[in-house]
Amino acid sequence: MRADDAEQAGFEARLGAAQETVRAALEALLAEGRRPPRLVAAMRHAVLNGGKRMRPFLVLESARLFGVTGAAPVAVAAALELVHCYSLVHDDLPAMDDDDLRRGQPTVHRAFDEATAILAGDALLTLGFAALAAAPVSPGRRARLVAALARGAGMDGMVGGQMLDLAAEGRFEPPRRRRTGAAAIRRIQALKTGALIAFAVEAGAILAPRAGGVERRALRIYGQALGLAFQIRDDLLDVEGDAASVGKALAKDAAVGKATFVGLLGIEGARAELDRVTERGRAALAAAFGDRAATLVALLEFNRARDR
Ligand code: IPE
Ligand code: IPE
Ligand code: MG
Ligand code: MG
Ligand code: MG
Repeated sequence: MRADDAEQAGFEARLGAAQETVRAALEALLAEGRRPPRLVAAMRHAVLNGGKRMRPFLVLESARLFGVTGAAPVAVAAALELVHCYSLVHDDLPAMDDDDLRRGQPTVHRAFDEATAILAGDALLTLGFAALAAAPVSPGRRARLVAALARGAGMDGMVGGQMLDLAAEGRFEPPRRRRTGAAAIRRIQALKTGALIAFAVEAGAILAPRAGGVERRALRIYGQALGLAFQIRDDLLDVEGDAASVGKALAKDAAVGKATFVGLLGIEGARAELDRVTERGRAALAAAFGDRAATLVALLEFNRARDR
């Protein structure tokens, strides 16, 4: 096996193990006997359906960077995935992106109905915070985690970004003459997608008693870079992905006028931007951690090439 192949195999084994660990934690939080049955069934449909679990993986790996393993990072990882899944359920609603397919299956409002999807999203969000509040960490750390996730999920994070994303479509005002520029796109993506990804790596540092300022700063730059890189890859998949592997409807962003780098710069320009931010994230980690952060660097590469 070549060194690259061995590294790739190691990365995939780690990602697979994280997916299994977080699946078990999510399954426990959403046990089938819980009630009301229709709500729980919709929540299970939203969560236990084959997501990549990239955010949970990031929590586990950024904690492991500081030698922190075990139940605490798993609890944080599961909490974050619940909040992420809620964001997808609401993102897919007819009033938002109006999508019928998610992770290769009917979206929650399609498999159930709109009211149930709204409520399932609400309940996933609150269950995520309940799970975080029950994480086996000191009260001080727990409070910092809850505050950080609230910031990442709410008006200064994901929800705020979703608002700007829809506004940039021109839904709420007459169409603008000028296209949304690069700085505005970066801001939308940093909020709607970057904020939860940034929380994932920040959580690793919150869980670590000995994370230093230089290391925290490097992780912050990495989280911001990965968040942007992740959404650029998502936007590229919308135009050049294979619908069967992506598991959602494609070629939608241009049709509704989403503000994306693909729309602004074209496919080649967006790829170049993806390369640039990938390199920025890699360089930040290399400077602060050297080889210790190889898995987080590999995640940047995984994102650059992912087909779903
Ligand atoms: C999709 O996120 C929404 C974006 C922020 C682009 P993911 O691509 O992580 O979706 P799953 O969880 O793997 O389905
Ligand atoms: C979603 O961005 C960001 C969220 C906060 C859910 P998109 O709307 O591009 O995500 P997909 O393509 O539906 O997964
Ligand atoms: Mg959207
Ligand atoms: Mg969408
Ligand atoms: Mg998309």
